[in-house]
Amino acid sequence: MKEKIKELREKINAFSASNEEAIESFRIKILGRKGELKALYEEFKSVPKELKREIGQELNVLNKSVVEKIQRLKTNVESSNQGDAKTDKTRPGGIHTIGSRHPISLVRNEIVDIFRRIGFAVSEGPEVEDDWHNFSALNFPPEHPARDMQDTFFIEGDVSLRTHTSSVQVRVMESSTPPIRTISPGRVFRNEAISARSHCIFHQIEGLYIDKDVSFADLKQTLLYFAKEFFGDETKIRLRPSYFPFTEPSAEMDVYWGLKTETDYKITKGTGWLEILGCGMVDPNVLKNNNIDPDVYSGFAFGMGIERIAMLKYQIGDIRRLFENDIEFLKQFKSGI
Ligand code: DAH
Repeated sequence: MKEKIKELREKINAFSASNEEAIESFRIKILGRKGELKALYEEFKSVPKELKREIGQELNVLNKSVVEKIQRLKTNVESSNQGDAKTDKTRPGGIHTIGSRHPISLVRNEIVDIFRRIGFAVSEGPEVEDDWHNFSALNFPPEHPARDMQDTFFIEGDVSLRTHTSSVQVRVMESSTPPIRTISPGRVFRNEAISARSHCIFHQIEGLYIDKDVSFADLKQTLLYFAKEFFGDETKIRLRPSYFPFTEPSAEMDVYWGLKTETDYKITKGTGWLEILGCGMVDPNVLKNNNIDPDVYSGFAFGMGIERIAMLKYQIGDIRRLFENDIEFLKQFKSGI
C-alpha cells in the first residue's frame, strides 16, 4: 500500500500541463470517482488496524497536495491567457506598481500649492522667446551690459531660448489688467558650462503681484510666509540688496538651512545660508512698457530656482543627477499619486 502511495505521489509531482483540458483530465484521472486516489482510499479500508493511522495520514496529505497542485496549474494557465484576444475584458485589472514623480516636479508642485493658497494663479509662457519679452520689456536697454548677466542661447535674429521665467511676467501683464497675482513655473536655458553645481537647463518659478498700494513690506511678508510653509515654522530669511534691471529696489533672499551634512556644505558653500531667489518692486519702466500706470499701481516680483531647493531637500550632491533619467535614482522619490 505504502509503495502505491509513493508511486502516485511521484506521478503527481511529475505532472505538468499548460492547458485547461490536460489539467481537467488529470484531475479526473486522480480525483475522479474512478480515479487513482479513490482506488487507494478503497484499498485503505482493508489496511490492518495498527497501520491505519499512519497510512491514513499519508493519503490525506497526498489528497491535499494534488488539490493544491491542480489549483496552481489552473491559475498559471489563466494568468498566461491574459492579453489573449479571448480574454474577458470586464475582469478587474492586475496590480500595477505606481511610478514616482521627478524631484523637480515634487518641489515645483509644493511651491505652487503654497502660493495658490494665498490667491496666486498659475500662468505659463513659451520656452522660445523674442527679445521683447525676455529682455526689452523688462527694462534691459539694448547693448546694456546687464544682458550679459545671463548667457543666452540665440536661435535666430532676436529669437532665443528664454533665460528666465521673468518673460512670463510680461506676457501676463500684456494680456490682463491689475490686480494681478500670478506664479509661472517653467524651464529656462543658459549657455553655461555644465558642472556639479550648474546646468544649462534648469527650472524657475516666477511670482508677480500688481495692485494699488503694494509695498516692499508686502513682498517681505509674502516671502516669509512662503519660506515658513516650505522650510518649516522656525525658518529664518535674510534679504540682501541686489540689482536687477526690472526691479527697483532689488534684493536677493537667503534661507538659513544649516550645516548638518556634507551636501549642506557643498550646496550652501559652507555658510548654511541658501540663496533661493531674486526679488524686488517692479520697476515703473516695466509697468509702463506693459501699459500699466505706475502712478496708480505698484507691484512686486520674485524669481526662484527649483534645482537648488530640491538638491538640499533630497540631499542630492550633483545637479546633473536631476537630468540623467536614471531609473534607479528616480525610483527613490515615491510620492503616491
Ligand atoms: N530673473 C531673475 C534671474 O533669473 C530672477 C528674478 C529676480 C526674478 C528678481 C524676478 C525678480 O521677478 O524680481 O536671475
